[in-house]
Amino acid sequence: MSDAAVKIEIDDAVALVTITREKALNALSRQVVGELIEAVSELDVHPDVRCCILTGAGDKAFVAGADIAEMQAMTPREARSFSETGAALGSALEMSARPWIAAVNGFALGGGCELAMACDFIYASTKAKFGQPEVNLGVIPGFGGTQRLQRRVGIGKARELIYTGDIIDAAEALRIGLADRVVEPGELLAAARATAVKIASKGPVAIAEAKRIILEGADLPLEAANALEQRAFGELFSTADQKEGMAAFLAKRPAVFKGE
Ligand code: CAA
Repeated sequence: MSDAAVKIEIDDAVALVTITREKALNALSRQVVGELIEAVSELDVHPDVRCCILTGAGDKAFVAGADIAEMQAMTPREARSFSETGAALGSALEMSARPWIAAVNGFALGGGCELAMACDFIYASTKAKFGQPEVNLGVIPGFGGTQRLQRRVGIGKARELIYTGDIIDAAEALRIGLADRVVEPGELLAAARATAVKIASKGPVAIAEAKRIILEGADLPLEAANALEQRAFGELFSTADQKEGMAAFLAKRPAVFKGE
């Protein structure tokens, strides 16, 4: 295996995860996908980490898609297995107890857009470009794009983007609800970090439960989804974080959460 393609830096309870294949516009090879899955599972149990940021090296691309050079000669069986591995990465991000913020600094195309959509929020630089251009290659999105895009932006816009392969800019991504915030390129990591640090100061068990319930409830009828919330709300009253949070409020001091 070649050198690591994913770098992890931890500072102030925030992990910055950078894909470092700048020359290939951070394209998702099998190696990158494998390293990202490992990074998510490692950070999920890291005692010092409470929120994560995912970005791409350089100022041109977040991720320009799955690695076309590697995919070109895949058999149908290999392509299906690659798609399943991409799905495992998306699920790992969504099931992680930590919130993930995608900091999209440039192209987020194909698997790159799909990777960003598996994160909790997408912060984009004004130079970011989004799209699902797989039809140009005679294929369809393979890392969850046909499903996550419609859940984010609605079925009509998802169809349009997937059928045309059009690439949209950050302002349009913000308008349709694909990006959650757009900032100047030089401010992107600072903006993502400011949100991450804020999240990291809150009750970690509560954040993990909120994340889980929002995801699990999204496809359920409202009553069943609300029942998930009621159960989780009750269970949080067995945590030290709940006792600390409410005691700190009443004592007029900042809460110090242990994530227990
Ligand atoms: N896979 C492999 N290599 C890629 C790549 C990709 N997805 N995207 C870019 N690269 C490589 C290029 O081949 C090039 O390598 P060389 O320097 O060795 O020639 C290098 O990155 C720089 O790219 P360009 O010279 O093309 O840069 P550009 O500025 O002219 O164009 C771009 C930028 C518009 C993003 C263009 O690179 C492009 O269209 N890339 C492919 C985008 C794409 O189709 N993504 C979807 C992939 S399929 C997929 O992701 C399936 C899935 O859902 C799982």
